[in-house]
Amino acid sequence: MKDAALLAEDGRIVFAGPDADFVRLYGEAPAPGETVLDGSGKTAVPGFVDAHTHLPWDGFREDEFNRRLKGETYAAIAAAGGGILATVSTTRAASEETLARNVRARLDLMLRHGTTFCEAKTGYGLDLANEKKQLRALLKGAKGHPVGVAPTALPAHEVPPERRGSSALKRRYVEECRAEILPALADGGARFVDVFCEEGVFSVEESRAILEAGKAVGLRPRVHADELTPLGGASLAADVGALSADHLLYATDEGIEAMARSGVVATLLPGTSVFLRTNRYARARHMVERGVAIALGTDCNPGSSYTESLPAVAFLASLGMGLTAEETLTAMTLNAAASVDEAKARGSLEPGKRADIVLLDAPSLEHLVYHWGVNLVSDVLAGGEHVVSRGDLLGSRAS
Ligand code: NIG
Ligand code: FE
Repeated sequence: MKDAALLAEDGRIVFAGPDADFVRLYGEAPAPGETVLDGSGKTAVPGFVDAHTHLPWDGFREDEFNRRLKGETYAAIAAAGGGILATVSTTRAASEETLARNVRARLDLMLRHGTTFCEAKTGYGLDLANEKKQLRALLKGAKGHPVGVAPTALPAHEVPPERRGSSALKRRYVEECRAEILPALADGGARFVDVFCEEGVFSVEESRAILEAGKAVGLRPRVHADELTPLGGASLAADVGALSADHLLYATDEGIEAMARSGVVATLLPGTSVFLRTNRYARARHMVERGVAIALGTDCNPGSSYTESLPAVAFLASLGMGLTAEETLTAMTLNAAASVDEAKARGSLEPGKRADIVLLDAPSLEHLVYHWGVNLVSDVLAGGEHVVSRGDLLGSRAS
């Protein structure tokens, strides 16, 4: 819409439409106490929603990145002691305070790139104490921050080092997740349960058992599905009534059909495709054709996608997966909100929704993917509060 106006009151949008209608309803001059933000020449879009992150971690893996550049694969590096377990050991060694500080710094960066809400997982603790520590750090780091966070319990991100070597040990960990860790994380404020359903990690049956146990304590399922091999995670997600199935590089036609039938959102992470040098993207166009809603996420983590920027992911979603500018914007706003059960409150600019608004320094929304590699975010309103101005964090967030 050209020449548009938005009005927010008490943190919610009360008007969104043509400027002429706005003037007719509310007059030219601002009412007393009203703040006016001039968006001339700019484009207002909903605050971005990041549907998949692994925020509370400590320690980087840039060495693995460089090894991949020299030809090693993600799987080979993990088998040689790197991968998720490398971050498990540095995250276990980190204090709750350090993890909370890391979360806050990452949320600040996300906000400057237009994100106003995100999902964030545990999964680098892999035992009761450390999974709880990660969740507490996530909530502490997010407390009072303009970016809202929906926590996901992911104790089944990998088999912990001390539960390897025999199937009995692994079974014991799956049982521990079900009986102890998931209930404790649900108690601690987690909203979702996730599992890495992958060859050599958790099988479809183990994943199903974990997701069902999560459901029993009130957690809504989401699944790391068909990322590296076509194991059947997409169909599992449909079976258990998951909100979202994520990655899906190897999702089969049947898996995609099942997702369409059950209304599972496909959360696609093209940043990870590029970062792991997979030479493959999820089949987004096929999914759209079959009626699956597509969401986007950064997958922000130190191993397979180190970025806080959803616009960077948007660029890859459009050029890599063939989503149009409009589809890409929908995937990083309304559909991403649906994938975290927030579509009633967030994800679009309409009366009744939270005033989470991003002003892009751009004359049209196409610029979001067309003008690439730069941060176009000029201003951000989160719940009606002006938190980014001309690219800078405002208030206590400013450094
Ligand atoms: O979403 N696939 C599993 N988990 C992460 C990778 C995490 C890591 O490498 O540390 C992902 O890609
Ligand atoms: Fe992930």
